[in-house]
Amino acid sequence: MDFDRIIDRHGTHSQKWDMMEKIYGVPAKDGIAMWVADMDFEPPKCVSEALRGMVDHGIFGYYGDDRSYLEAIGWWMQERHGWTVSPEWVFTTHGLVNGTAMCVDSFTQPGDGVVLFTPVYHAFAKVIKAAGRRVVECPLVNNAGRYEMDFAAYDGMMDGSEKMVILCSPHNPGGRVWTREELQGVADFAKRHDLVLVSDEIHHDLVMPGQKHLPMATVDESILDRLVMMTATTKTFNIAGCHSGNVIIADGSLRAKFGARMAALGLSPNSFGLVMAEAAYSPGGAEWVDALVGYLDGNRKVFDAGVNAIPGLKSMPLEATYLAWVDFAGTGMERAEFTRRVQEDARIAVNHGPTFGQGGESYLRFNLATPRARVEEAVGRLQEAFADLQ
Ligand SMILES: Cc1ncc(COP(=O)(O)O)c(C=O)c1O
Repeated sequence: MDFDRIIDRHGTHSQKWDMMEKIYGVPAKDGIAMWVADMDFEPPKCVSEALRGMVDHGIFGYYGDDRSYLEAIGWWMQERHGWTVSPEWVFTTHGLVNGTAMCVDSFTQPGDGVVLFTPVYHAFAKVIKAAGRRVVECPLVNNAGRYEMDFAAYDGMMDGSEKMVILCSPHNPGGRVWTREELQGVADFAKRHDLVLVSDEIHHDLVMPGQKHLPMATVDESILDRLVMMTATTKTFNIAGCHSGNVIIADGSLRAKFGARMAALGLSPNSFGLVMAEAAYSPGGAEWVDALVGYLDGNRKVFDAGVNAIPGLKSMPLEATYLAWVDFAGTGMERAEFTRRVQEDARIAVNHGPTFGQGGESYLRFNLATPRARVEEAVGRLQEAFADLQ
């Protein structure tokens, strides 16, 4: 578990490192990739060893008999999240963007509204729009640098054409771990407006010390007949390239609809993803995640201290995730100018706030899941790029 080790990812088909010059103009030579949400760390040994076992065996045929895989999921959810999952509730999708798209497809019709609490993970809006549905943005309230929800305002925005709400829990990009009351508020909102509630909990293992994530399924039993839970090993263990995710549905009738779509599309899982996931959901995987979270907590402290020391910049305190959401409003600069300074002067590739929806206009998102030395280097470059504000 050497999270300090720098592993060169250039020339490995890494989206984060090999596409930053083309997309952002940040030079591959000495740029720092802090955009796409994967980590610059090796996964735990148990995962690499499982994959090596497959390679050593040397035959890569179709996967069958998923009992031990489903057992591993059940063990993890019970052990780490206090949530009891029955094996028959689990669908394995081609990742959770695919899972989201499949939910949109299974539970809504073209023209229906899908509610998002924005700013939020950009791929939600992308798949909703691509499927010919409408994004209904319910803006989060920024209360002294912390996102909160305002259900009274959201109630007034509904016109009856909404059929689904997607919650990001914990929240990307604001780093919130929603409280029991907030989650109950979302559940009540879904009930009031007769919405299917999709809870994307992909970041549920990456929760900072002292915080506690609550799976939506454990908050309110009476929501289970409209609830779709989504989890994955990919974000937690840095195996996003295997494109595997779990869509977990307790309700039989929702499950039948989702299963019918999966069958109609002929979707079945990739064996590499399943083998790695089973290995990850283990005591060895758990030990690794605990160490990882401690390291990420250290990174966010270094980043926040350095960035918040720059007048006009404000990094939202992270309760979860490794994605820092930095507000540049206080600089008084146009978006083009602060973005230019980050990309051209500091040579850091980041995600742009407006892609996350309303409320993201003055923000950039920085991925801190990289060796600490790189976080320190990035902070130094930012301080230099905005030195005139000191
Ligand atoms: C909230 C959320 N959902 C889904 C994903 C991506 O899921 P996948 O790679 O399984 O498609 C991300 C990636 O950053 C995310 O932040």
